[in-house]
Amino acid sequence: MCADVEEKTRMKKVSIKEAYKRWSNNYDTDLPYLFEAEMNRVFPLLGEIRGKNILDLGCGTGRYSILLAKKGANVTAVDFSREMLNIAKNKAKNQRLKINFKQVDLKNNFPFKKEEFDIILVMLLLGHFKHPGYLLKKISKSLRLGGICIISTFHPKKSGGKLALVPSLGLDATKYKQSIGEYKHAIKKSNFLLKKILNIKFPKKIIIKAKKDGINLNPFRSKPFLIIFKTRKIR
Ligand SMILES: C[S@@+](CC[C@H](N)C(=O)[O-])C[C@H]1O[C@@H](n2cnc3c(N)ncnc32)[C@H](O)[C@@H]1O
Repeated sequence: MCADVEEKTRMKKVSIKEAYKRWSNNYDTDLPYLFEAEMNRVFPLLGEIRGKNILDLGCGTGRYSILLAKKGANVTAVDFSREMLNIAKNKAKNQRLKINFKQVDLKNNFPFKKEEFDIILVMLLLGHFKHPGYLLKKISKSLRLGGICIISTFHPKKSGGKLALVPSLGLDATKYKQSIGEYKHAIKKSNFLLKKILNIKFPKKIIIKAKKDGINLNPFRSKPFLIIFKTRKIR
């Protein structure tokens, strides 16, 4: 097969679910610097989490769920990918952590009670939703008054409208990208007060660390690649 035909075949578009099925085994190791830069900023936003009821929506391989459970939170972790969930479940089992895992497609179903949670995390999930407001309204209902919702998503100013989901694996799955104004509007319409916006860039410490591993993050130094919204339910 000639190289460009081979390339096109490899870049065949797949569904989001299929993309995560294929990505699941490498997900934890593919983006270590991005994950570290994001998590360092997110945990301080959460405050005390021991004993809190936390919902991790689109939990993937349990990047947040596992740490939250270790810190004493009561965690419910939801994802539609069996393969991503299985990795999270194995981690929980190996570390003897009790987490309530659920396999749910959040586009069709939101099986949670009114005001059930103190904190809801929506990390790197909203980019898969055409209308983030749809999910945010449901999230708001299941959060107690005064509860916190943290949203992290690819920065709207990051280049590319449709992002290749896993270019290293030759996968491509459509991601939606809203403007900051659209996110703010959806947040307000869902009875949240926007408390903070963080534009996440790679800090110097991580750039140096990546360099030691032979990865050059300098081109990504000046532009934020993620945006994080901290919101509080006020109505
Ligand atoms: C980029 S990963 C983020 C995983 C995790 N939150 C993290 O930050 O590492 C997005 C996750 O959302 C899940 N997902 C995408 N669309 C979904 C849907 N409609 N319902 C439930 N989960 C979904 C995917 O299976 C995947 O695990």
